[in-house]
Amino acid sequence: MSGILSDGLAARISGLAARYPEPSAALLPCLHLVQAELGWIPAAAEAELGGLLGIPPIRIREAVTFYSMFRRRPAGRHHIRVCRALSCTLQGSGDLGERLRARLGVDPGQTTADGRFTLEEVECLGNCENAPCVLIDFEEHGRLTPESLDEILEGLD
Ligand code: FES
Repeated sequence: MSGILSDGLAARISGLAARYPEPSAALLPCLHLVQAELGWIPAAAEAELGGLLGIPPIRIREAVTFYSMFRRRPAGRHHIRVCRALSCTLQGSGDLGERLRARLGVDPGQTTADGRFTLEEVECLGNCENAPCVLIDFEEHGRLTPESLDEILEGLD
């Protein structure tokens, strides 16, 4: 391993990029691979990924900052994203956010001191019919109340 990306990850990225007519078209799935291995996408990883895909790091930074699923800071073991878009707000996502801030003792964008949870507020999760919604790691939870959200959190390690 010579950089922040392991040899195995670099090989997977190169293999994935080879499936596309233009290696740059593999940018989003490659960013998912990087985040899955590192837990977030540091600047050094952007630079190495740019080298592997043959695209300027600024294009990678643009994608990382545009899509809310990519993290630019280390995250907790569980990543909680509260939808703050209109449908969820009208159905009470503000109450969910308040409950989470009080329970976890952090504001959106922060990670708990024990490293268990990172809290974020995000735009529409695409599950408006089940508002209010929260995404925890990769699982969507809808029609939540502060109490049902508490129950979900108590089931997490
Ligand atoms: S507004 Fe919350 S999922 Fe769409």
